[in-house]
Amino acid sequence: MIFRQLFDQDTSTYTYLLADMQTKQGVIIDSVQQNSDRDIQLIHELDLTLQYCFETHVHADHITNAHVFMDKFGARMVLSKHAKLTTDSLLMQVEQGDTMMIGAHRIDVHETPGHTNTCLTYVVNHHNNPLAFTGDALLVRGCGRTDFQSGSATTLYRSVHEQIYTLPNHTIIYPGHDYCGHRQTTVLEEKRFNPRLNLDISKKAFIGIMDNLPLAIPSQMDKIVSSNLRGGRPVILNPE
Ligand SMILES: [Fe+2]
Repeated sequence: MIFRQLFDQDTSTYTYLLADMQTKQGVIIDSVQQNSDRDIQLIHELDLTLQYCFETHVHADHITNAHVFMDKFGARMVLSKHAKLTTDSLLMQVEQGDTMMIGAHRIDVHETPGHTNTCLTYVVNHHNNPLAFTGDALLVRGCGRTDFQSGSATTLYRSVHEQIYTLPNHTIIYPGHDYCGHRQTTVLEEKRFNPRLNLDISKKAFIGIMDNLPLAIPSQMDKIVSSNLRGGRPVILNPE
């Protein structure tokens, strides 16, 4: 499988490009609009046919580049069925248990809400070494905040324990962000060492941690979320 982990410096966002080695069919996960030229060039250089743009959730901190990939390559944007999308024929909404194929590789959808109500984890069954793209549900030694976009610490605790920690221990986890230089982790590592979500932390203790995080609301959040619900297309303001 072709695999690239790409990084956005401004928002510390990871974008992933995956493709089948034989068919060259590919998917980009959590693209960032500002990196459009870089990502298009890489897709051309690797001679990929981009089939899908997966979103792990409706982001509040950056605008997706999905609309460009839809327009340029006819790729389909994939997002949770819980997102209230504006209509677009290339948008595809998925739910727990759905599967998609990239060449010979099956990708399973797990609903992992809690950071937002639209969070998904995509699990790639790569031989006996699964890869999980957890977005902001589970980060390396951390997790996404739960204080806006229908977030809930109770829900996130359940999602991580029931949908991610039930994957094989050696599953490699690729997060949506990292702020400390980490790139990946495993299910076993997080069960043991995640300060918020190791197996010794109770749901009550987790809620206590999440309720007391000193976090500011991201700037321009409403505008960014509205745009992401349109695949990253600009929001047209009503002249009235
Ligand atoms: Fe997020």
